[in-house]
Amino acid sequence: MLPTQSGGPGAFVDFDLSRVPTPCYVVDEQKIRANLAVLRDIGDRSGAKILLALKAFSMWSLAGLVDEYLDGCCASGLWEARLAREKGFLGARKSQVLSTFSPAYRSSEFNEICSLSDHVIFNRPSADGVEQARVAGVSSGLRINPEISLGLDPKYDPCAVNSRLGYPLSKVTETDLSSFDGLHMHTLCEQNFSPLLQTWIEVEHHLGSLLANFDWINLGGGHHCTRADYDRDGLVALIKEISAKYGCQVYLEPGEAVALDAGLLVGSVLDIMDTKKKHALLDLSATCHAPDVIEAPYRPALLGESDDGQHEYFLGGASCLTADSFGHYKFRQPLAQGDRLAFLDQAHYTMVKTNTFNGVCLPSIALWNSATDELKMIKEFDYQEFVRRLS
Ligand SMILES: Cc1ncc(COP(=O)(O)O)c(C=O)c1O
Repeated sequence: MLPTQSGGPGAFVDFDLSRVPTPCYVVDEQKIRANLAVLRDIGDRSGAKILLALKAFSMWSLAGLVDEYLDGCCASGLWEARLAREKGFLGARKSQVLSTFSPAYRSSEFNEICSLSDHVIFNRPSADGVEQARVAGVSSGLRINPEISLGLDPKYDPCAVNSRLGYPLSKVTETDLSSFDGLHMHTLCEQNFSPLLQTWIEVEHHLGSLLANFDWINLGGGHHCTRADYDRDGLVALIKEISAKYGCQVYLEPGEAVALDAGLLVGSVLDIMDTKKKHALLDLSATCHAPDVIEAPYRPALLGESDDGQHEYFLGGASCLTADSFGHYKFRQPLAQGDRLAFLDQAHYTMVKTNTFNGVCLPSIALWNSATDELKMIKEFDYQEFVRRLS
C-alpha cells in the first residue's frame, strides 16, 4: 500500500460539501494557480521550460490559466496533442512547446502528430517514424531507460527490469543517438530531488560528452516540486548546470505537481451496513472515480477523518467489484445516511481515468476559487454519457 501524498486539506477545510451534487470533483482554481506559480518560479530561476503532462490533468477549462504560467504541454499521443492545441493550452505564444511521446505510434496518426507537435519522442533509435519526423521538420528525441530503479514500487518504475519504456542506457551507442536532436528520460513518480540527481549522474557517466550533441534534454515528470518539502533549489542548480555544461535547453514535464492537493472527490453516504465491521456505502466508486486507489493501491486521505475517532468504517464503493473500497477510516461522530464525505488530492489521475463500470455515474466537475469563494458547476454527466460509450 503506497502512502497518500496529500499535504492536507488546505483551503478545502472551509468548503461546504453541501454546495455540490454528488458524486463531484471540486477543483480549487487558486491552488492550481499557486502550484503553477511555483513551477513558473523554477522555470524562471533555472531556465528550464516546463510542460504540463496532460495525462495527469487535462482540465481544459483551465487551459488559459496553465498557458499563463507554463511553456506548453506534453502529450501521450494524437488525442492529447489535439486537446492541447484545440483547447488553448498552448495559447498564441510562439515559444510554447508541444512534446509528444508514445512507446509506439500508429502510422495512420503519425502525420497529424508531426503537424501538431514541436517535439516527437521515440522509444528506440530505429523506430518507425524517425525518418518521417525528420522530413517533416519536427525536432525528434530518444527516450532512454537509465536502468537505475529508485522508485517505491515497480509498478510505477519505468526503469524496472524489462521495462518497455525507454531504450536501455546500457545498449545506447553513439550511432543510435546521431539521428536525434534531443534526449528524454522519465524515471520518477512522486519523488523528491535526490533520485533525479542520482539518475542524472548515471546518465552523465554513460553518455559523457555525447550529451553536448543535443539541442534539448527532457527530464520527464514525477518531480513532486510543488510539495512543501521538495528541494527546489537543488533542482534549479542541477538544471542550470546541465544547460551550461551541454549548451542545451532543459525541459521538465510534471503532471501531478500541477494539480497536487487541488481537488476533492465529494460523495454521499447511501447506507450503513453492519457486518463484523461497519461499512458506509457511498455513491463514489474507487474503481470508477479514483482507479489509482485500487491500481496503486493507496489509501486516499479524507477530509475530517480523525486518527483517534471511535467510529470506524470501511468506505465502500458503488460498484459490484469486491475490492471497490477506499479503505478503513475513523470518525469522531457516527456516519449516517446522507452525510457528505470528501477524499483529498483528487484532481490528478482521476478525471482522466474515470469509467462507467456497473453503470456508475461519472462525477460532475465543479470549479471553486478559494480566494473568492466563487463556485461554478462546469460539467455534469447523465445517462446518455453511459449509453454513448456502449453499442
Ligand atoms: C513520459 C511521462 N512524462 C511525464 C509524466 C508525468 O508524471 P507526473 O504526473 O508523475 O509528474 C509521465 C507520467 O506517467 C510520463 O509517463
